[in-house]
Amino acid sequence: MLKIAMTGADGLVGSRIVELLNTDFEFIPVPQSKMDITNRELVNQTLNGMDFDIFLHLAAFTNVAGAETNKDLAYKINRDGTKNVFEAVSLKNKKFIYISTDFVFDGKNPPYFEDSVVNPPGVYADSKYQGERIVAGKAMIVRISYPYRARFDIKRDFFRTFKMLLEQKKPLSMITDSLMTPTLIDDIAYGLRHLFNNYSPETYHLVGGKSISPYQAAILVAEKFNLDKSLIGKTTYEKYIKSKPGLPQYADIRSKKNDFWKMKDFTEGLDELKSQLSL
Ligand SMILES: NC(=O)c1ccc[n+]([C@@H]2O[C@H](COP(=O)([O-])OP(=O)(O)OC[C@H]3O[C@@H](n4cnc5c(N)ncnc54)[C@H](OP(=O)(O)O)[C@@H]3O)[C@@H](O)[C@H]2O)c1
Repeated sequence: MLKIAMTGADGLVGSRIVELLNTDFEFIPVPQSKMDITNRELVNQTLNGMDFDIFLHLAAFTNVAGAETNKDLAYKINRDGTKNVFEAVSLKNKKFIYISTDFVFDGKNPPYFEDSVVNPPGVYADSKYQGERIVAGKAMIVRISYPYRARFDIKRDFFRTFKMLLEQKKPLSMITDSLMTPTLIDDIAYGLRHLFNNYSPETYHLVGGKSISPYQAAILVAEKFNLDKSLIGKTTYEKYIKSKPGLPQYADIRSKKNDFWKMKDFTEGLDELKSQLSL
């Protein structure tokens, strides 16, 4: 059985990967409490004594708006931390997978495939892109986009935020002139299962089957869970971006290379979540 050491195993995406694939692979979580990735010496020391086949690196400073005001920390974790981990893994001649983001694209000229030109629009995006640059050509880069799942108490994704606000009968103001590519985390996990078994140091997009506007996404959530659609108002990208910088406008992300796992679109993903939530 392949041994997969990983950072970020207790996060939104990582914890679901472990939940779904723990009978296919032996996961070895390396939590921040044991290894702060910004501490180079500690990273070398920790990884030196570990036995694994692949290192899956998910740990990141993931607060997009927060990165604009915590620039140094975002680069310290996403660029320098990635460098620390990648160098230590390379010294052991082990395989490395870097989880990155669709935000490396500026959202001005969609659609975006694996080989599209990147132009990160904000601090979070650029810090993640700097991480990509460190490993490019030498490791696998997997870009994901708007991940969501049925349950996870520690961090809310966009799906559970929309659902919670609608359940609380709070009005939502949703962008109509923008695109996102919602991705069911279960599909990311199953796509990764193939990539773990078929490793190659290239870039892949593991993204949902279709891009939609945030407004459409909120409407679909309301329809699927019988919530009040009239609470969902409209806004524009230009107005929204003033309060939440760093968000690309047309994040229509696609893959030329994923012929191994069918990624659900948001309608199909919601069907799956509804059945998981009724269990
Ligand atoms: N969520 C999204 O919308 C999204 C979209 C596209 C790409 N991604 C990428 O997907 C990956 C996973 O995202 P996520 O949303 O699952 O993350 P998350 O839930 O925010 O979790 C972040 C993880 O990183 C760890 N971490 C943070 N700083 C660290 C440090 N200095 N040393 C060691 N570990 C550290 C955290 O550990 P603690 O729990 O101890 O704090 C946590 O396990 C990230 O690389 C992110 O850039 C996410």
